[in-house]
Amino acid sequence: IKEESLTLIQSGLTRDELQELKVKVMGKKGSLTALLKQLGSLSSEERPLVGQIINEVRASLEQAWDEKMKELEEQALLKRLEEEFLDITLPGIMMPRGHQHPLTKVIEEIEDIFIGMGFQIAEGPEIETDYYNFEALNLPKDHPARDMQDTFFITEEILLRTQTSPVQIRTMEKLCPGLPVKIIAPGKVFRNDDDATHSPMFHQVEGLLVDRGVRMSDLKGILLTFSRQMFGEDRQIRLRPSFFPFTEPSAEVDVSCMLCGGKGCKLCKGTGWIEILGAGMVHPKVLEAGGYDSVQVTGFAFGMGVERIAMLKYGIEDMRLLFDNDLRFLAQF
Ligand code: PHE
Repeated sequence: IKEESLTLIQSGLTRDELQELKVKVMGKKGSLTALLKQLGSLSSEERPLVGQIINEVRASLEQAWDEKMKELEEQALLKRLEEEFLDITLPGIMMPRGHQHPLTKVIEEIEDIFIGMGFQIAEGPEIETDYYNFEALNLPKDHPARDMQDTFFITEEILLRTQTSPVQIRTMEKLCPGLPVKIIAPGKVFRNDDDATHSPMFHQVEGLLVDRGVRMSDLKGILLTFSRQMFGEDRQIRLRPSFFPFTEPSAEVDVSCMLCGGKGCKLCKGTGWIEILGAGMVHPKVLEAGGYDSVQVTGFAFGMGVERIAMLKYGIEDMRLLFDNDLRFLAQF
């Protein structure tokens, strides 16, 4: 057994074959083990002698196995090291990194500008009641101006807010009688509209300043500062008379065209002006709905469409691009 096993061990077996051989000889049913089992049938003089021989054979075979195994393992390791050669001078593979959506960027930029002027950020629910979205904003149930906003109704009293203006009321209710109320409220709004310049879901940023002695010139100053920080230092603004039920007087605010090549200008269609938001002095009824005394305090409010601001800033022609989530588009910002 010894001679045969030793020859086999040196005969270039693989590690698996070597393991198999070990089991065949020294395993439970191995040939050497079988001899050990027969010891009992020997006489008491022969038993220790034969036992000793078997043990010696076992020891020398084990040693030979261990040495061979170690040798094979070292060879295997060397081979692996050679095969797995790693060129640490190769440039790495860059993980593609995402970034903020252009709309999020614009919202944060708007927030930063107004925080810089002492405004705080307020929020309100996207699912609103008729009261906050219309009624408290001086739009009673039969008011024709309700038709201007194609409302998604959930029930007769509950709807998807069509504007961020309800946050005006909610904020005043919360802060009253505290002064000043000086907030902007960014968020999603919903209207049943869908084309290149309208999306059923879009974003607005509402602004509200209520205090003693707030005047329309304060509104102009704040909006001029905003426009210059957003669109460039040499921008001008102009206010055109308009109508909103919740402001009186009301205005539509234009910013001077930032691309203007005169008559053929694509952005402002040659007018030199681009509408960016609606604004006005808070209607006394709205101040009262918020809990304030409309004799003691005055305020201004404004509301802008974020998509529109983003489209103007980046020269995007179709609003739907902002919602398609096509990386070829988004990666440009
Ligand atoms: N809520 C108005 C709109 O969605 C905008 C606006 C807000 C106008 C605040 C005046 C004051 O069109």
